[in-house]
Amino acid sequence: MYFFIEPMRETDVSRVQEIERQSFTTPWSATTYLRELRSPEYSRYIVARSSRTRPRDEQLPEPEPRRNWLANLLPARFTTPVTPSPYPVVGYGGIWLTVDEAHITTIASAPEVRGKGIGELLLNGLIDLGLELGARFMTLEVRVSNEVAQNLYLKYGFEARGTRRRYYTDNNEDALVMWTGEITAAEYQTRLRQLRTILAERLKKYAEETT
Ligand SMILES: CC(C)(COP(=O)(O)OP(=O)(O)OC[C@H]1O[C@@H](n2cnc3c(N)ncnc32)[C@H](O)[C@@H]1OP(=O)(O)O)[C@@H](O)C(=O)NCCC(=O)NCCS
Repeated sequence: MYFFIEPMRETDVSRVQEIERQSFTTPWSATTYLRELRSPEYSRYIVARSSRTRPRDEQLPEPEPRRNWLANLLPARFTTPVTPSPYPVVGYGGIWLTVDEAHITTIASAPEVRGKGIGELLLNGLIDLGLELGARFMTLEVRVSNEVAQNLYLKYGFEARGTRRRYYTDNNEDALVMWTGEITAAEYQTRLRQLRTILAERLKKYAEETT
């Protein structure tokens, strides 16, 4: 199975909602997603799709000249197609942009395909979006109990810089506020390239084993 990232389309929202309900105790409504998609000046949303065959170049988010294995799976430019995609949605994520900060609003992969690199692929897609929109830092809130997500963020250089007390209204749980350093800095870019090389190998191996 191959996974790749594309901008979220309005036709993806019903599937996104299914994953949302399986992933979060206070899911966003379809209306909220549609509103977000219709406000591209403030927010951007992506989906991860699966494909049983290696998507042909014209189906990939961006063909030439981004010719390395992982770059092929990430969109180089953010343009949202309007027609439905034949490739099922297996995860999604989004950001809000405020001045030079990209705030990750949501990220989730479908429960049946977790642990296969999709969350990481999505996070790379969101970091790319942040860079494309001119962000210098990425930030997010995460439940203090959500160690799986925290591990993913720590891997990509997010650090806990504070807490928001009783941020989650369903159980009054605190949120950790995590920040990256400067994502445009040479040091961060080097680390990102290293992580992407490893991720590409992981996704490639999974694709070879399952197709
Ligand atoms: C968080 C989430 C998006 C991770 O997605 P995923 O597709 O399973 O993640 P990946 O397979 O890409 O794993 C990436 C990293 O996440 C962390 N991670 C993933 N599964 C983990 C697990 N079971 N235990 C600990 N860490 C884990 C690891 O750091 C992993 O890197 P590694 O494989 O090098 O150890 C997914 O668990 C999810 O959708 N959770 C529910 C929604 C949610 O909590 N979203 C975050 C809101 S802040």
